[in-house]
Amino acid sequence: MKVGIIGAGTMGSGIAQAFAQTEGYEVCLCDINEEFAANGKKKIAKGLERRVLKGKITQESTDELLSRITTGVIGICVDCDLVIEAAIEDMAVKKQTFQKLQEICKEECMFVSNTSSLSITELGAGLDRPVAGMHFFNPAPVMKLVEVIAGLNTPSDMVEEIKRIATDIGKVPVQVKEAAGFVVNRVLIPMINEGIGIYAEGVADPSGIDSAMKLGANHPMGPLELGDLIGLDVVLAIMEVLHSETGDPKYRPHPLLKKMVRGGKLGQKTGSGFYQYEG
Ligand code: CAA
Repeated sequence: MKVGIIGAGTMGSGIAQAFAQTEGYEVCLCDINEEFAANGKKKIAKGLERRVLKGKITQESTDELLSRITTGVIGICVDCDLVIEAAIEDMAVKKQTFQKLQEICKEECMFVSNTSSLSITELGAGLDRPVAGMHFFNPAPVMKLVEVIAGLNTPSDMVEEIKRIATDIGKVPVQVKEAAGFVVNRVLIPMINEGIGIYAEGVADPSGIDSAMKLGANHPMGPLELGDLIGLDVVLAIMEVLHSETGDPKYRPHPLLKKMVRGGKLGQKTGSGFYQYEG
């Protein structure tokens, strides 16, 4: 099966790796220009190199995995069987992407979105085919869950096929109904926002907050280091969707979260968030 992935950022490249590590999948990793797409593949190669050095995988399997990934702009998705949109969390950008895709992709090609909170029904409105949600979790090559979301017009056989594909690449699909933030982000992102509030009030420093949640709640990462991993811009975008879709003040993004995003402190991807990162 040939899978197109639109967006070679953290999630797009992680999803590309998740597919390419399964025999039988060819991946077209795209971005707005060739360089961004190639950088996504380089990021995958770098991560794999580390695992080769640790003796976790062989150089041969790494080369094989990488050979299944072609990079370029959206036009390379022309003969894909499935396209996963993993562009920025902006309804207009995502809708435009699907409009472009329907002009070039074959009729049978399935369209899915990796959106972390937006309406699948709205994403599919006005297109010549249905859209489903296929929501991966960061780091996508490792995390087992894929939330599979049906919009109002997504046929059940398409949902079943997406669940089958998720299982085929070693993931565990959980079908959820369309709702702001679906299941995981409705719970997880307000928790990160709360952690930011606790830090802003001076209750504890970032490492204190993170240690408390790791040791007291058995979370693998504390809320602030997890925010840095996800990207604080993504955290803010999801809080804004939860807030605007529900109108519930409990989902108000914390002012410090907004300030950090305005200041370009987005976490690991910019080298600075609640912690500093090298390389
Ligand atoms: N890419 C590929 N592989 C990675 C990776 C990455 N970015 N990060 C870690 N791994 C691999 C490692 O290579 C390692 O594999 P091996 O054991 O085969 O070598 C394995 O994952 C475990 O990694 P580590 O030993 O380095 O570290 P760890 O045991 O502490 O696990 C973690 C790291 C998996 C990230 C773990 O800390 C964790 O589960 N954290 C929570 C992550 C989480 O909650 N994600 C969801 C975010 S929400 C989201 O993504 C949704 C959204 O819409 C915003």
